[in-house]
Amino acid sequence: MRRKLVAGNWKMNGDLATNARLLDRLAGAWTRAERRSLAVCVPAPYLAQAQAALQDSAVAWGAQDVSEHRSGAYTGDVSAGMLVEFGCRYAIVGHSERRQGHGETDARVAAKARAALTAGLTPIACVGETLDERERGDTEAIVRRQLAALIAVLGGDTGRIVVAYEPVWAIGTGRTAEPADAQAVHTKLRAQLLAAGAGAVSILYGGSVKAANAAALLAMPDIDGALVGGASLDADEFLAIGRA
Ligand code: PGA
Repeated sequence: MRRKLVAGNWKMNGDLATNARLLDRLAGAWTRAERRSLAVCVPAPYLAQAQAALQDSAVAWGAQDVSEHRSGAYTGDVSAGMLVEFGCRYAIVGHSERRQGHGETDARVAAKARAALTAGLTPIACVGETLDERERGDTEAIVRRQLAALIAVLGGDTGRIVVAYEPVWAIGTGRTAEPADAQAVHTKLRAQLLAAGAGAVSILYGGSVKAANAAALLAMPDIDGALVGGASLDADEFLAIGRA
């Protein structure tokens, strides 16, 4: 069954005091009776804080990246096993800020998704086109290639991931894809997943999702939730998106 999920991506934001207020609000306000799952993906140093604040709540937590390696001489990297020790359920992989800023290739993103699954985490695998690619009419080819790389490595385990469609031009820009345009891409991704025997994978939309536009996006038949950056730093906004 396609799970409904709204996941926050804090990116490199937060400090202990601000996080404490935000996490406490979410833990207190979100109940197990809600129709969607709610999760926050926090910077790695704050995982212990998230674990302590959320462990008795209905809110899940996760990381924003994970190493494809199990252990060893990988300075600065964090393994999936370490994330599991801090109670993570999710790890984002292949966010465009990592593909662009850290040179992550499709193959590396797929290896990270594999490492996450092996450790028992659910990878939230991001795909999406840049503005240039969209204007050249390449949106479908780009996301198809990105998803194909995941399917090639994950095979029969593809059904265990969550996919997030995040058009790069919509991230942090205030420009959101029109619900119908996002739905059109989700339909293509759904068909590709179905052909791989993974038609029940949840496909989130991400890119300037706010309380004001969430309901229209989440009403689309193939949009199963949202990956939320900036608006996930504000408890009221984030809770409203979760309930939209
Ligand atoms: P945004 O970021 O909601 O701030 O656009 C989304 C993301 O990058 O996951």
